[in-house]
Amino acid sequence: MPAIVVLGAQWGDEGKGKATDQLGAVTDYVVKFNGGNNAGHTVVVGDEKYALHLLPSGILTPGVTPIIGNGVVIDLEVLFQEIEALESRGVDTSRLRISASAHVIPSYNRTMDKVSERFLGSRQIGTTGRGIGPSYADKMNRVGIRIQDLFDESILRQKVEGALVVKNHLLAKIYNRAAASVDAVTEELLSYADRVRPMVTDCSLDLNNALDRGEMVVFEAGQATMLDVDHGTYPFVTSSSCTAGGAATGSGVGPTRLDRIVGVAKAYITRVGEGPFPTELFDDDGERLRQVGHEYGTTTGRPRRCGWYDAVVSRYSARINGLTDLVITKLDVLTGWEKIPVCVAYDVDGERFDEMPPSQTQFHHAKPIYEYVDGWSEDITGVRTFEDLPINAQRYIEYLEEISDCRISSVGVGPDREATIIRTPLA
Ligand code: GDP
Ligand code: IMO
Ligand code: MG
Repeated sequence: MPAIVVLGAQWGDEGKGKATDQLGAVTDYVVKFNGGNNAGHTVVVGDEKYALHLLPSGILTPGVTPIIGNGVVIDLEVLFQEIEALESRGVDTSRLRISASAHVIPSYNRTMDKVSERFLGSRQIGTTGRGIGPSYADKMNRVGIRIQDLFDESILRQKVEGALVVKNHLLAKIYNRAAASVDAVTEELLSYADRVRPMVTDCSLDLNNALDRGEMVVFEAGQATMLDVDHGTYPFVTSSSCTAGGAATGSGVGPTRLDRIVGVAKAYITRVGEGPFPTELFDDDGERLRQVGHEYGTTTGRPRRCGWYDAVVSRYSARINGLTDLVITKLDVLTGWEKIPVCVAYDVDGERFDEMPPSQTQFHHAKPIYEYVDGWSEDITGVRTFEDLPINAQRYIEYLEEISDCRISSVGVGPDREATIIRTPLA
């Protein structure tokens, strides 16, 4: 049975939650390997709609073991809020496991995220304000707090003290905020210890043992390739590894064990927050994509910036991640356009780029070069086989496949679990 990575091939919100949830029917484990509650995955099951932030999407399927891997940063307050909200709707969350090496987001890092954004002024990133960046910075700076620290009070106190030595100067003297109290932070974190303890596991051992037994594991990414801290549009990125390599480092499963790398991309493209976006639309077409596609953030409710499909981004994602499959979502949103523009290359100050320009300055100057594909007007939300799609919708998908350097394995035609056309089964 395979190990399958499901990740974002654009700037996020491609429909990774739905793709992971669909694999829930056949997988044994779903592991979230990066990010935290900056993610927002909407999953529609029958009449029920779930918005998941921190919990892996596999939590909605009975029998699946959801794991929060070592690469994740955990806001413990949010963790238990999300668990309680699901339990109150009848979802069994008792199988949830958490890596002892995952980091926590202490409350002072939520404050740091918000005040540092304010200080950046016009250069701000547009973060979700959840404390993600400061918590990953602490991890790299070796002053982070890990889940395992909750079970040793004196170690925990030392670590909180260590983290606050410099941070309290920043909070009080630079940002004009109250300094955080070592006692209060330690007490708050300790108050979660008893509830977290039974969930703690060695994520790497569990997953490798499961693969040895021939079981199936889905690795679910938060965020996306273009938001990856190494490969995205830095500094307008998140602070974790959202790409395929992150699945290995964020879970403790070696890259040689990963069988399929599935990139999820919309039939157009969106972005939340600041940063360059070559195919962004500022006209009625952009507004129409936003309205028809309900493009408002699951986490912050911000309107998403909308644009036409960018094949340069898709080719880049195929290369960076070594994609074996592409899942195209939201094809239904494009119904009714006479011609659909697709960006095939960029014009950067008069020079044509077929691949991602090597510098951010060039990317900021990139103007899309479009090809135009004939549209269709038929409602496609009830279509379940590729051959039943209008011929122009088939051609659109075949064209995306040709210019994206990756086989398109399935096509989404609506938010429901069933509203998917399978061309090549993922498992
Ligand atoms: P994620 O963060 O990648 O999981 O994506 P989000 O949940 O933030 O955003 C994707 C949105 O599109 C959700 O509201 C989904 O219910 C919805 N969605 C997913 N696939 C399709 C599709 O094929 N068609 C339509 N119309 N909506 C979809
Ligand atoms: P899912 O998993 C879209 C964006 C933020 C901001 C930047 C940094 O639902 O696809 P952060 O709070 O992570 O430091 O913010 O990244 N961002 C997302 N955009 N989808 C997401 O997650 C995102 N998570 C973070 O808007 O521009
Ligand atoms: Mg999302």
